[in-house]
Amino acid sequence: MMPSCAYWVERGRLAGSCMPRGMDDLRAIRDSGIRRVVVLPEDHEIAEYWGDVRSYFEALSAFDLDFLHEPVPDMEAPSVGQLVDIVRWIREDGPALVHCVGGIGRTGTVVAAWLIVERDLPAREALALVRSLKPGSVQSYRQLSFLAEVEEKLEKIRGMLYE
Ligand code: 4NP
Repeated sequence: MMPSCAYWVERGRLAGSCMPRGMDDLRAIRDSGIRRVVVLPEDHEIAEYWGDVRSYFEALSAFDLDFLHEPVPDMEAPSVGQLVDIVRWIREDGPALVHCVGGIGRTGTVVAAWLIVERDLPAREALALVRSLKPGSVQSYRQLSFLAEVEEKLEKIRGMLYE
């Protein structure tokens, strides 16, 4: 079983989660079929759980989990450039897990944005879907308005995926 805060957005393709707390969580994530991990917390947040950032990245590697670190401050949203990097990276290979600290604010925002870009959902429907999967997802006005921005700039963002 994955950590109890984890959920599949689409089984075998994309999952969301809070911060993995230790080796048992990483083993469970790997055993669920996840192969790559998008890490959204900032360095100081990772260090709170893992001592330092390097220890965490080494632990991910020890479980053969590829990772992409795209730090986003708590209560904020990624930049459009970060989102493009994340969506492109998720496309590249097997099941991915996106995590922040609580698994609701930043993760919910990235998951909803992925649904807008990759599944053609209107922002409102992407928000409703991610909130049905993880109640409380998307925590701030900044995160909410980012989803509107993604919807508005959708064609530009899709073009950026191929640059
Ligand atoms: P998130 O925000 O990591 O963007 O989901 C947080 C949500 C909850 C907590 C921390 C950060 N928490 O400690 O409960």
